[in-house]
Amino acid sequence: KILILDFGSQYTQLIARRVREAHVYCELHPYDMTQDEIRAFAPKGIILSGGPKSVYEEGAPGLSDAVFELGVPVLGICYGMQVMSHHFGGLVVPAGKREYGHADLIAQGCPGPLFDGFFVEGKSPVWMSHGDHVERMPEGFETVARSDNAPVCAIENAELKLYGVQFHPEVSHTPRGEILIDTFVRKICGCTGQWTPGQIIDDAVARIREQVGHGQVILGLSGGVDSSVAAALIHRAIGDQLTCVFVDNGLLRLGEGDQVMATFAENLGVRVIRVDAEDRFMQALAGEPDPERKRKIIGNLFIEIFEEESARIEGASWLAQGTIYPDVIESAGGKTGKAHNIKSHHNVGGLPEFMKLKLLEPLRELFKDEVRAIGEELGLPHPMVWRHPFPGPGLGVRILGEVKKDYADILRRADAIYIEELFRTGHYDKISQAFAVFLPVKSVGVMGDGRTYEYVVALRAVETRDFMTAGWYPMPYADLARISNRIINEVKGVNRVVYDISSKPPATIEWE
Ligand code: XMP
Repeated sequence: KILILDFGSQYTQLIARRVREAHVYCELHPYDMTQDEIRAFAPKGIILSGGPKSVYEEGAPGLSDAVFELGVPVLGICYGMQVMSHHFGGLVVPAGKREYGHADLIAQGCPGPLFDGFFVEGKSPVWMSHGDHVERMPEGFETVARSDNAPVCAIENAELKLYGVQFHPEVSHTPRGEILIDTFVRKICGCTGQWTPGQIIDDAVARIREQVGHGQVILGLSGGVDSSVAAALIHRAIGDQLTCVFVDNGLLRLGEGDQVMATFAENLGVRVIRVDAEDRFMQALAGEPDPERKRKIIGNLFIEIFEEESARIEGASWLAQGTIYPDVIESAGGKTGKAHNIKSHHNVGGLPEFMKLKLLEPLRELFKDEVRAIGEELGLPHPMVWRHPFPGPGLGVRILGEVKKDYADILRRADAIYIEELFRTGHYDKISQAFAVFLPVKSVGVMGDGRTYEYVVALRAVETRDFMTAGWYPMPYADLARISNRIINEVKGVNRVVYDISSKPPATIEWE
């Protein structure tokens, strides 16, 4: 396994993803992990991330001696290269010119095996983002590459297997960066690439059995990818010791409740308690137009019902959750620029401490794509595993203002037509998230010979990598025309459809 020491770069998570994509297990830890912890981790290689500081600044994050004591290969990226150079007596200085964006790397001398396949005809396009550079080489190192802007862009000490790169191999703008990271972890560090879906499942199953023993586990199933995969995995490990609670809040998509029951209870044989709570949710939401208060009402009522149901399950001692690695990294904190609370995101993860249950989180070390891969391997249906994300409060935040059952019914039907058309036309997989929104506004229309006075449905489709920023999807007019026609003709109560062309920021993805 590989250890990634985080010096605060915005790209550190990407390094971990690239290593996992090479099917090698890795963990991300803060740069000041103690020597004992580093030794105990026993990595086969270490990657030092980039970071916002300068090595010569006061209080700049330094390197633990344990990093080089272990004698394993080390790859320093950007700040990681500078801190390593500094450590071995090199001189790092502010560059005359900061370098951001694309650069062409030119190989120098005869680069070692780390760079096999990285240079083509002595060149490689890369993504740079740095203000400092190495002016005097550290002892024992050779220059491997330069750019037009900087004389030292990559260095190596072949004997000790220490490497530094000034550019960012982990970002997609460095086209052959993946090859470099793959070579580092497999060839240079000798990791064998056993981190495959089958292996992840076997490991997780063994661990769950060991942790839980004969205990009983409860899990709140939402139909979303994370809780679904967690349920399938835990069921594989301990079968009937798992009970899932699925709360139908009346704010799910068309047919979703039945799909969840069909997949889990019927096909996989998981014990699922379905709680039909539509009326309770509608009553609780009646008369409340405020988005944040709606979220709180939905979140609190979910917890209340979940507690009621769990109390009936005898001898439950574990609460399982579908927490995934990005959730863990984000809440670990220590990073600058923490997201503002623009909208309070309610998740099952927000359950309070109750009933003294121990937490079981079998997906804690996995990225979303790994979660999807093991979901498929566990036999969950492809559409469930690859579904667009759906917010915890469901249609509750897609019906603007006060939520009513009639509105939810109209929205469900319009949304189902929209999504069906996106599948038919092949747009679905190119879009990150698509859904319909119900606007409680009436406008005038004409149908046949009669005047209509009905509601508006807005369609939203966005492309995004991380859901922090997003662009609207350029849907072809012909497809929009067909979707609009179908919704207006097939869904009673709607006589107008509009397409949302706002990006995030300044808009958000959801309308509330
Ligand atoms: P926004 O609207 O903030 O959404 O641009 C970003 C992503 O988060 C999802 N979202 C939520 N998820 N509970 C959730 O579990 C919520 O209250 C919530 N609000 C937004 C949204 O669907 C999008 O994927």
